[in-house]
Amino acid sequence: MVPKTTPYLVSLDLGESKICALIAETKEGGQVEIVGKGTATHKGARKGTIIDVPATVEAIKRAVEEAEIMAGVQVERAVVGVAGPEVQSFNSRQVVAVSAKNREIGRDDIARALDAARSVPVPAEYEILHVIPRQFAVDGRDGVTDPLGMVGSKLEADVHVVTVPLAITQNLLNCVNRAGVEVSEMVLEPLAAGAAVLTPDEKELGVLLADVGGGTTEFAVWRQGALALTGVVPVGGNHFTNDLAVVLKTPFQDAERLKKKAGAALQALVAEDEVVDVPLTGGRGIQPVRRRQMAEILESRAEELLSLVLDSVAREIPLSEIRAGLVLTGGGAELDGILEVAETPAGLPVRKGIPQGLGGLTDVVAGPEWSVAVGLLLHGRASSVSPRVRPRAVAGVLSNLTTRLKGLFASSAQK
Ligand SMILES: Nc1ncnc2c1ncn2[C@@H]1O[C@H](COP(=O)(O)OP(=O)(O)OP(=O)(O)O)[C@@H](O)[C@H]1O
Ligand SMILES: [Mg+2]
Repeated sequence: MVPKTTPYLVSLDLGESKICALIAETKEGGQVEIVGKGTATHKGARKGTIIDVPATVEAIKRAVEEAEIMAGVQVERAVVGVAGPEVQSFNSRQVVAVSAKNREIGRDDIARALDAARSVPVPAEYEILHVIPRQFAVDGRDGVTDPLGMVGSKLEADVHVVTVPLAITQNLLNCVNRAGVEVSEMVLEPLAAGAAVLTPDEKELGVLLADVGGGTTEFAVWRQGALALTGVVPVGGNHFTNDLAVVLKTPFQDAERLKKKAGAALQALVAEDEVVDVPLTGGRGIQPVRRRQMAEILESRAEELLSLVLDSVAREIPLSEIRAGLVLTGGGAELDGILEVAETPAGLPVRKGIPQGLGGLTDVVAGPEWSVAVGLLLHGRASSVSPRVRPRAVAGVLSNLTTRLKGLFASSAQK
C-alpha cells in the first residue's frame, strides 16, 4: 500500500556558516507554505565536509528545535542538502535497442536506457547521488523529452550523473540521525537552489546559478530546460572576510561585521572620503580605514571568484549559450556590488536569486541564504509519499499552536 501523502515537508541545509531547518505544509494544488524555520551557527562543517560531529549534531538539534516550536510539530525526517568540492558530476549517454516488435518505445526501454546511462564506473569510495535525465534521442534524433510511445529502433538516454564520496553522505546521515532526525532524501545543493530561485524560462534559455556560501561557491547550468553542468569552486564569502581580516589586521568577527555593514565589491559604489572604524587584533585600539580600501580588497576577491566560476563553465559550455545570464544566490550574493562586478567580465545579465513561489511565512525565508533550504523542500514535495513530522509533544507551548496540533491529530486519526 502506498503511504498516505503528508501535508508536511522538512528540510535541513548544513552550511558552513549556519544550519537551516525549514518546516512547510503542502496545500491542495501543491502550494508550499512555510510554517517553521530554525537556524544555528556552528563550526562543525567546512567546505561541505563535517569536521566536528558533536558540534554539528548539537547545531542540528538547535535549528530543528527552533523550527519545531514555531511550527508546532515534531520533525521525524528531512530532505538534506549535499555539497562540497569533492562532489563530482558528468554527463553520460548510452544507447539500447527498442525491444517491442512494432518498435514502439515502452517504459521498459526507457528504464533500460537510463540504467545503461547510469552504469558508469564510479570510484569505490564514491556513490551515485543523482541520475538526472537530460534528454533522449530516438534513432539518433536528439531533443526528445519523453520518448514513451514513439517509434524507433534505437533509444539513447542522456543523463547528468552526480557522485559523492561515501564518507560525506555517511557523515551527514550519521549527524542528522544522531540529532534524532531521519534522512528521507539527499539532494545536491545547487540543484535545490535552482528549484527555489530559477524560472522555467531561464532554464530553457540557458542560465548559470552560483550559490555563494561561506566556504565554497556551488554552481549549476541549465540549457534547453535540462541540467547541463554542476560544479564547485573553493571560494566563498568567508574568503572575502578573511581578506579584510588579514589586510586590515582586524579579528575575523569584526571583519565579518564590517563586510556586511560597510563592505562593497565595487569601488565605484563607495564615496572616496568615507571612513569606518576598524578594531585592531589583540585589542590594540581602533584605526580609521577608508571604505574605498575595503572595497578594493573585496573587489579583487569578487573578480577572482567570478572568473573561477565563469572559467569552469566556459571549459564545458560556451558562455554565449547562457542567454538568461547569471543568477547569484547564497549569503554571499548579499554583498553590495557583487551583482555589478559579475556583469562586467562575461557581459551576461545578472540578478540576485531569492526563493520564489511560496506561501505562509515567506518573509522569514526572503533572503538568498535561504535558497538551498527552500529548494530542498521543493524537492521533497516532488518525491513526498511518507510522513515526515508527527505532532510535537509540547502541545500548548504557544497558544496559536493548539489549533495547528488539533488539525494534525485530526488528520492522523483519518489515516
Ligand atoms: N549582508 C551580507 N553582506 C555580505 N556578505 C554576507 C551578507 N550576509 C551573509 N553574507 C555572507 O554569506 C556567507 C554565508 O552564506 P550562506 O549562509 O549561504 O553560507 P552556508 O550555506 O552556511 O555555507 P556553504 O554553502 O559554503 O556551506 C558568509 O560568508 C557571510 O559573510
Ligand atoms: Mg550553503
